[in-house]
Amino acid sequence: MSNKLPLDVKLDYSLLHMSYGAEKINYANKTEFYKKLNEELVHNLDKHWFTNLSQFSALVFDQLPDINWVGFYLNVSEELILGPFQGKPACMKIAFGRGVCGTSAAKREAILVDDVDSFPGHIACDSASRSEIVIPLIQGGKVLGVLDVDSPSLKRFTQEDVAGLKVMTETLLKTTQITL
Ligand code: SME
Repeated sequence: MSNKLPLDVKLDYSLLHMSYGAEKINYANKTEFYKKLNEELVHNLDKHWFTNLSQFSALVFDQLPDINWVGFYLNVSEELILGPFQGKPACMKIAFGRGVCGTSAAKREAILVDDVDSFPGHIACDSASRSEIVIPLIQGGKVLGVLDVDSPSLKRFTQEDVAGLKVMTETLLKTTQITL
């Protein structure tokens, strides 16, 4: 049998664009780590928002050490609805102003929680989570949702993680139109 493709079979160019090396980026220097992770993100983004949010979650979940959940909640009619993520199944709806995610969306600011038990109203989706970062996604003055990253370790994150993840959400929003 011939191993040539029949003439009517089109190449799937999305497969040709797949460029993830999967090598672990060294986390010892956080500034360098987030610079490289941001570059990796750029290479793994395409056209559709659901593709890009999925790629973002998978990349961070694969590379950032000591985390148990990363993903997005998206603003649908002023309610945060679970979007693309990696980790255990999670709460599907969060009201603005509720939990860490809803508070970050309502205040339009990033929140770093060293100990989730000390955050009033924290919503425990995965009981293993001990610390958390939430970053709002703001495009054209509108809060489109939030990025949420959870760790099973207390005080896992620092302001360097907040800064690095913020730059990554900016990269995402520069190239991605989230339409809901
Ligand atoms: N802990 C979050 C809820 C989302 S889960 O952690 C995935 C919160 O308090 O808003």
